[in-house]
Parts: sequence; C-alpha cells; structure tokens
Amino acid sequence: PPPKPVVRKVVVDPEEVDDGKKKVTIFYGTQTGTAEGFAKAFAEEAKARYEKAKFNVIDIDDYAADDEEYEVKLGKETLTFFFLATYGDGEPTDNATRFYKWFTEGKDRGDWLKNLQYGVFGLGNRQYEHFNKIARVVDDLVAEQGGKRLVPVGLGDDDQCMEDDFAAWRDLVWPELDKLLRDEDDATVATPYTAAVLEYRVVFHDQTDASKNDSIQANGHANGHTVYDAQHPCRANVALKKELHTPVSDRSCIHLEFDISCTGLVYETGDHVGVYSENLIETVEEAERLLNLPPDTYFSIHTDKEDGTPLGGSTLTPPFPPCTLREALTRYADLLSAPKKSALTALAAYASDPSEADQLRHLASPVGKEEYAQWVVASQRSLLEIMTAFPSAKPPLGVFFAAVAPRLQPRFYSISSSPKVAPSRIHVTCALVYEKTPTGRIHKGVCSTWMKNAVSSEESLDCSWAPIFVRNSNFKLPADSKVPIIMIGPGTGLAPFRGFLQERLALKESGSELGPAILFFGCRNRKMDFIYEDELNNFVKAGIISELVVAFSREGPSKQYVQHKMSEKALDIWNMISEGGYLYVCGDAKGMARDVHRTLHTIVQEQVCLN
Ligand code: 2AM
Repeated sequence: PPPKPVVRKVVVDPEEVDDGKKKVTIFYGTQTGTAEGFAKAFAEEAKARYEKAKFNVIDIDDYAADDEEYEVKLGKETLTFFFLATYGDGEPTDNATRFYKWFTEGKDRGDWLKNLQYGVFGLGNRQYEHFNKIARVVDDLVAEQGGKRLVPVGLGDDDQCMEDDFAAWRDLVWPELDKLLRDEDDATVATPYTAAVLEYRVVFHDQTDASKNDSIQANGHANGHTVYDAQHPCRANVALKKELHTPVSDRSCIHLEFDISCTGLVYETGDHVGVYSENLIETVEEAERLLNLPPDTYFSIHTDKEDGTPLGGSTLTPPFPPCTLREALTRYADLLSAPKKSALTALAAYASDPSEADQLRHLASPVGKEEYAQWVVASQRSLLEIMTAFPSAKPPLGVFFAAVAPRLQPRFYSISSSPKVAPSRIHVTCALVYEKTPTGRIHKGVCSTWMKNAVSSEESLDCSWAPIFVRNSNFKLPADSKVPIIMIGPGTGLAPFRGFLQERLALKESGSELGPAILFFGCRNRKMDFIYEDELNNFVKAGIISELVVAFSREGPSKQYVQHKMSEKALDIWNMISEGGYLYVCGDAKGMARDVHRTLHTIVQEQVCLN
C-alpha cells in the first residue's frame, strides 16, 4: 500500500527525511558502556513507540571526522538526544573528549542550532564535586546556541539508582515526542512497552574445539596493537609484588609492578592504569553451582543470528572470545556487585517458581523501589547472593552474560612510579578491600584480592599477568620544576605523589632546579601502615621533598589527620599558593578530600584577613 502522508509539526529539511521518516539522532559519550546501554535502550523503546521516526544511535566520536564536520552535520540535525557521562574531575569520557573540546571552546556561532530540538541525559555520581558537569554544560550550550530544550537535563546519579533517574527522565520525554512524532489525528495511546530480555546466541563447542580454539583465546589477550586502550589492553606480567604494611597491621596494602618492557606500552607520571583482573576461584565455583553447568562447558556468544543478520536488541555488549565457562566467569562476569533492576527482570523471566518470579519483578518495579534500595543496594547484596536467594532462577548462558552479569570492568589505579625512573615498569599501590557487608558476607575486592594473591616473575616463571592499559590524566607536575608544590595524599592517596617524587629526582639528577615541595601524608600508626617510609625519608634527604608532614590518626589520644597538619602549616601553605604554587589532593573523595577542601578555605580566609 502507498505510504500514508506524514503529518509533522516541525519544519524538516527534506534531507532529514528518510523513507518518509523523521530522523532522530541519539548520541552517547560512554566510558564503560553504561551511557551507550541507556542510549540504545531509549532508542529501542522509541522505535517501538514511534513508527514514523527513524532513530540512529551513534558514538559521538564516530559522528564526525573533524571539527568542521561536527559543525556541518550538527547544524542540520533537528531532533537529537545526548547521553553523556561525566568522569573523575568533571571530565568527558574518552569518546566524547574531541566533541566536548570543540563544542565548548568553539567560536561564537550565534543561534545556529535554532532548528534543533533536544534532550540531554547525564550519567554521574553525586559524591563527586563536578556532578554531571558534561551533561549540564552541553545542555546549556545547545540552548544558548538556539536549541529548543524538550525536557530538563536528566541527572543520573550512580550513587543512588541510575535506572530510576533514567526512567523518570524518559517519562518526561515521551509526552514531548508524542507531540512531535505522532500524527495530530492519532488518538491512540502508545502500547505499553516492555523491553525484551537481552540474550546472546550461544554456540556450544565440543572439547576438541577447545584445543583448536586455544589460538583464539590467546589472541584475545595477545599484544601487538600499536595503541592500547580499554578495548585493546596489553598483556603484562607481574614482575614484583610486596606487602607495604608491617606484620602487626591487620590490613594489607600491596605494591605491585607490571613489566611493560617489549610491549610498546608507555605512560607519563600521574597517569592511571586500568587493570582487568580475575574473580577468585571460590566465587567462580559458586557461580557455576548456581548456574548448574559444568565448568568445562566450552561455548561462544554471538550478537547475530545463524544467518548472519543482527539479533534484535542492539544493546548487547561485544562478545568475549570463545572459552570455557570457568574462564568466562573468571574474566568477564561481574559477580559481586549488586545487580541492576534489569538483571532482576531477566532473572525473573527464567525463575521456574512463580512466587520467586513475582518477588524479583516486584523488586525491579517502581512499586518495589524502596525494597530494592534497602534489600539490594544498602545491603550490598551481590548477584551471587541474590541468585542464592532465588534458586529457581536459572538463566541460560546467553541471557546470563547479556542481561544478568555485567561485564567485569577494569579497575583504575594512580600509577605510583615515573617512567623517568621506571620506564619498563608500571607501579601500583593498592589497599586490599576486605570488609563485612550488612548481610554478613565478607566482600573481597575483585582486583585488590587478585593483586594480593598475584605471583610475581621473581617468585615463579609461571607468574600472574593481567590485561592492562594506560589512561592519561591531567594530574601532572607543573611544567616549570621551580614552581612550589603542595601534595596531600593520606593512605594510598600517596601513590601518584611517589611518581611525582621519582620524576623530581630524575629532573634534579639531570640538572634542573627544583622549587619547594611539601608532602602531607596520613596513616593510622607509624609501626603499621606508614607505607614507603624509607623511600620518603630518602626523598627528604636528597632534597626532593622540602618537608614531609605525617599525621598519625591512631597513635595519640586524639585523631590527627592531614588537614589538622595543614592548619598548623597554614602560613607555609599560604605563601606557597601566593607564589603560584600548585596544590594536589589524592585519596578518599567522600571524606578526606572534602575536609581538606574546607580546611583550605579556612586557611585562605584567615591568611587573607591576617595579611
Ligand atoms: P582513620 O582510619 O584512623 O580514621 C589513611 O586512610 C588515613 O586517612 C588514615 O589515617 C585515616 O584515619 C585517615 N582518614 C580517615 N578519614 C579521614 C578524613 N575525613 N580526613 C582525613 N583523613 C582521614
């Protein structure tokens, strides 16, 4: 039948219309895939609701080859949505960096986006100072340049429940899109939409395939890329491992060195290293029991159908290489985080006991919001704990890896060495995460436990290794080594400063003049957790640090923290800042960094009054 004429309320450039359908572009700026997942889920639902529109989900980096192309293409868009995550110190994700730089630093273009209607959903964490900065900035800038905002910017908060924030934002978007994308005379109500449970196509291989496929497995982790990144990590052996706490400490902090010689991997002082680690064997065995499948099940997962056409549900994460269930659970599945609501829905779909299915659905529903917040999030119930509580829920592997267990993400550490001193090693300083959760479970941090158990090449030829990559940071020493620096880094917050000090040592040895440097370090007790004590004292002796100030929190009758020591040194700090000095803080963002920030305000206020 001939296509029905389309009634549109917005003026659309003919170029924008494809098959009589209005084009809607959905951009994502994602680091670990969460923003991408939401963007795609949004598009799936939108497709189901609006037949008269065509939704394209696009990596914002792939959208344009250069600034000029961004300008030309964006200027032609009429309806777009942005899903943008904010990272660390209010930074865009790697894939949004180029766009963000161009968009925020660009020339004044007037109201060139006046034909654009748009919405922004941000992904961030309220515990950080620059909460959802990227989304807010883009939202404001598009409006400033003439864009018409359809809904207020959505501020997803990972500290609470991102899925709820997204659902609330999306519920504001639909009525707006109804006005734009449905015929005026169409009185029908959009049919309620239920997202399909995501699922990979799984192919089981027999054991003889396993040996044939060893090469594929090896390739999955083999080196040889010219650029290493999260998608193409570099296999690095553990060259050295050492405990930094003394035996009287009841905690653990590991110094670990990755060997990067002959890999081509390079780093700069102050950069971060991303480490893909493995789940503990006891965790993996429990998952195998819960899935009721033998560990040597050899399988591969696919995002296409047997005939090569893509599977529906475009939110699938790219597959991992063919491997045994043991390896898949060890390397690729996040088994210890609290499951997302979508994971509970997927489990419900495969619970053979109807009452378990109902309970799971309830937890994932808007009505069960409080219970989810308490019973899942606040209780820190892991996926495995939840699967134990709902034993009839046995999802098939394709569903388990697509919708139930998220992909195990790399953990990031501040590199604690400088390439000027350790060009072929990446040093990491890592506190062991080992704590009792509200349900009484002992939570062992995935990567810190792996590091604690790692076997170095000093100890065995069959040493531990991990896929790693370097993420550049802007935590850098001043370009001029004479500029004064103040470093505040209690506990493992010391890590990047150890790199700084190594770099200053190298600079001094090559004849550079060093400005003053004061280091505030804090720990519980000199005899337990004064990490790198000898090294720090040597840096003082060598004139690399002009002053080392240490706060011991559990030695005397009262707690001494770095900020107390800062108050004592208020005048020195003020003088260094006044001379254009740099001040760096590293460590616990929720507690210490906020208190340090407050102390700094007080110091500045008092000194301004005094001077
Ligand atoms: P505590 O554990 O005795 O409270 C490194 O972790 C050091 O930082 C420890 O000495 C720890 O002390 C201390 N610390 C904990 N909370 C802090 C805060 N809000 N500000 C500064 N230091 C803190």
